[in-house]
Amino acid sequence: MTSATVAWPRSAGPLELRPPTRDDLDQVLVWRNHPEVTRWLLRTTVDPEAFRTAWLDSVDDPDQHTAVALLDGLVVGTGSLSVRDGIGQFDGDAWRRAEGDLGYLVDPAHAGKGYATDIARAMLDLAFTELGLHRVTAGCFADNVGSWRVMEKLGMRREQHGVRDSWHAELGWIDGFTYGILAEEWT
Ligand SMILES: CC(C)(COP(=O)(O)OP(=O)(O)OC[C@H]1O[C@@H](n2cnc3c(N)ncnc32)[C@H](O)[C@@H]1OP(=O)(O)O)[C@@H](O)C(=O)NCCC(=O)NCCS
Repeated sequence: MTSATVAWPRSAGPLELRPPTRDDLDQVLVWRNHPEVTRWLLRTTVDPEAFRTAWLDSVDDPDQHTAVALLDGLVVGTGSLSVRDGIGQFDGDAWRRAEGDLGYLVDPAHAGKGYATDIARAMLDLAFTELGLHRVTAGCFADNVGSWRVMEKLGMRREQHGVRDSWHAELGWIDGFTYGILAEEWT
């Protein structure tokens, strides 16, 4: 169902998305561990070398589509789409590698300008028009209003409200949301 070869770069509003280089990731690392960024992430502070290695390895993984978002040559955000199996009976295989997990981050210095929405829109477009996925989902803490606003602006549906299902290091058990969208809903 999916192809390892994806056309890059892709435009995302004023941004250009392309697979990361080591230099790009060094730019991401300037802001990646900032408290404003880590506050609502599951993977909070990252080890710089492990982060670089994981993102560079993802470039050659046919099920990982990772991109940095550049504005006039400056890395202001990242996007990711991980392809995985959906749910299905073992009599068929339509569900294999049919779903994607969406992720996005924006440098706090560039937040509030619609960039996360631009990045997420481009990754959904990749998922449905190029990879032919059936469904894309993403999760977030319920308190991460900026994140779920991005998903709602793009027409994603809140499919799950998990009551105190998500552990937060400072806040303890708090609510989480899962959003989803189907290929036929993406126009
Ligand atoms: C959350 C994040 C992705 C938003 O990026 P962004 O580029 O500012 O997002 P956008 O500008 O595209 O859209 C954000 C929307 O949320 C709204 N918003 C942001 N914070 C809000 C808040 N605290 N309360 C209400 N609305 C809020 C914005 O007004 C905007 O909506 P609008 O266009 O209707 O006005 C970014 O802040 C980020 O990377 N945070 C840290 C990492 C993270 O949480 N990633 C998501 C993990 S699930």
